[in-house]
Parts: sequence; structure tokens; C-alpha cells
Amino acid sequence: MVVAPATAKVIGKYAHGISDDLVTATLLATRAPVLVAPAMHTEMWEHPAVVDNLALLAARGVHVVPPESGRLAGGDVGAGRLAAPERIVAAAAEVLARSGDLAGLRVVVTAGGTREPIDPVRYIGNRSSGKMGYAIADAAAARGADVVLVTTVHRPVHPRVRVEAVVTADEMAAATLAAADSAEVVVMAAAVADFRPKAVAPAKLKKSDGVPEIVLEPTPDILRLLGERKRADQYLVGFAAETDDVRENAAAKLAAKRVDLMVGNDVRSEDSGFEVDTNRAVLLDADGGVEEFGLVTKVRLADLILDRVRTPHPRQGATE
Ligand code: C5P
Repeated sequence: MVVAPATAKVIGKYAHGISDDLVTATLLATRAPVLVAPAMHTEMWEHPAVVDNLALLAARGVHVVPPESGRLAGGDVGAGRLAAPERIVAAAAEVLARSGDLAGLRVVVTAGGTREPIDPVRYIGNRSSGKMGYAIADAAAARGADVVLVTTVHRPVHPRVRVEAVVTADEMAAATLAAADSAEVVVMAAAVADFRPKAVAPAKLKKSDGVPEIVLEPTPDILRLLGERKRADQYLVGFAAETDDVRENAAAKLAAKRVDLMVGNDVRSEDSGFEVDTNRAVLLDADGGVEEFGLVTKVRLADLILDRVRTPHPRQGATE
């Protein structure tokens, strides 16, 4: 339960067990975590009665988002201005994450398609929107995990996620492998280019020079590298975007890349794969388990994938 703005009166009544209106009666009746965001004039905020009441609530486990300094309702300036909504939302998300089933688990997620430059203006890219990777990062963060998102695309994300922006497969490889060193779970949801131009033209290629011949070379296969160096306490999730024989192709990649869980998805149908909000996925695990889902949202699929993450991780922070 979030009380924002929390006035001196509501804080005083809550601290002393007075429940004579809807807000204070709900505060006394709820067993949910409570967060208060005080807002009042500076003199009230600094009054010993308010200071003591807040200390009493904090000692009982109530979370406080302190006010900011700024213009107040009367036009004067000082401490006591309600915290910005983003700070209140972030604090609430943090409180909820602490009791999540993935609390303390360190998760790396990749998202989006890489861009491999041809010249300073053009690149080879793909249709990945990053929606699946973002859904996994959001869900993991909401469930308490400490998430690093290595991404080529930029979208709103859960406030607990740490975002690392990359562009090319090389940059994604460096950032992901470094982050994986201190992570128990790595989810490769990104659409990494398999090939890149061998040489990047230093200046924009000109039409007048004729059709250029672009020689390609392979990019690092990040998932394969992660599989090769996988620790016993690590769990690796890969994706296989396929246009045919989804299950067979996903199973082959699971084995070849030493992945623990492979998410095969059909990118042929209009309601699955790139850009849309839904997927038709089959989950294959290293023990031969197969689960097929009909049409599910990427948000739902993210939770289904995270439900299956099994790792003897140390769960650091889970008891903090
Ligand atoms: O073999 P394929 O590219 O279809 O495998 C897809 C999986 O491998 C995805 O999880 C993708 O993120 C990952 N991948 C990678 N590095 C590449 C190509 C794909 O990590 N160069």
C-alpha cells in the first residue's frame, strides 16, 4: 500500500493506531508492505512530532520515500515537496522485489537485433524489436532478480534493471560475457547477426561508384561461447527463431550450444516472432523435457521461462 502524499496528519494517526477514515483504517487492516511518501511544509516536516512519528513507523517496517526540496504548495521553497512519481514507483518496485521468488538471483538478459556497419551510414540489421528480452528483464526484476540488460534497442524498462547499451555483435559479446562472470542465469533473447561486413567502408559508399561487393565474415556466437565456459552454478537460456521444423532445430541448437533451456519460436506466423506482442513457443530442456504453448503474450512467456530456471545459485541477498 502506497500513501502519497502522506500528510503530517495521516502519518500521526497511522503511528498511533487511529483509524477513523478510509486511508487509516486500510493502513491498520492491511498485511501488505506499506510505503509512505510524506509531503508537507518544511516547518511541519522538521517538527519533532512528525520526526518521531516517522521514526516509529520506520521501526515497524514501514518504508519511507523522503520528500524533496523544492517549491511547496504555498509558493515557498524548502524541504517537504512530495518525491517525484518515478522515485515513488521505483521504491515500491524495490519493496515488492525483495519478497520475489528470484530475490538475489543475478540474471543477464540480451535484447534486440545487432547492427553490423557497412559504412558510417548503413548497417546490416534484422527485425528483432527486443520485446521478448525486455519482457524477461522486466519480469525477472519484478520477481527480485538483479538484472543486467544488454540491449541494442531502447524501451521503458523496470526501474531495477541495469541497462547496458550496445550496437554490434562484438559489443554485445564483450558486455554479455563480462556480465555473465557474475551471474547465475543468462538469457540470450537477442537476435545476434551471424555475419558482418569484413571491412567497414570509412566513408559513405556512393551510388555513382556502382554496386559495392560486400564480403561477409562470421560474428562471435555468444551463446556458444557462454555454453563453452558455463559454470556448474550457471543456467543458460537460448532462443531459436525458426521458419520451419521449430522443435527439431531448437533441439539441435540446445545440444550444440550446451544450453539448459531452449525457447523455440515460430517466426513465420503473423502472431509470433518479430515485432508482435505474442509468441508461439516450445520450451525444450537439457533433460529432454518438451513443453509446447499455444499463443501466449511475451509478458506471460517471460514468466513461464523464469519459472523453469533451475540453478543451485547462492541466492545472495535473499535473506537480507
Ligand atoms: O543458431 P542460432 O543463431 O539460430 O541460435 C539462436 C540463439 O543463439 C539465440 O539465443 C541467439 O541469441 C544466440 N546467438 C548468439 N550469437 C550469435 C548468433 C546467435 O548468441 N552470433
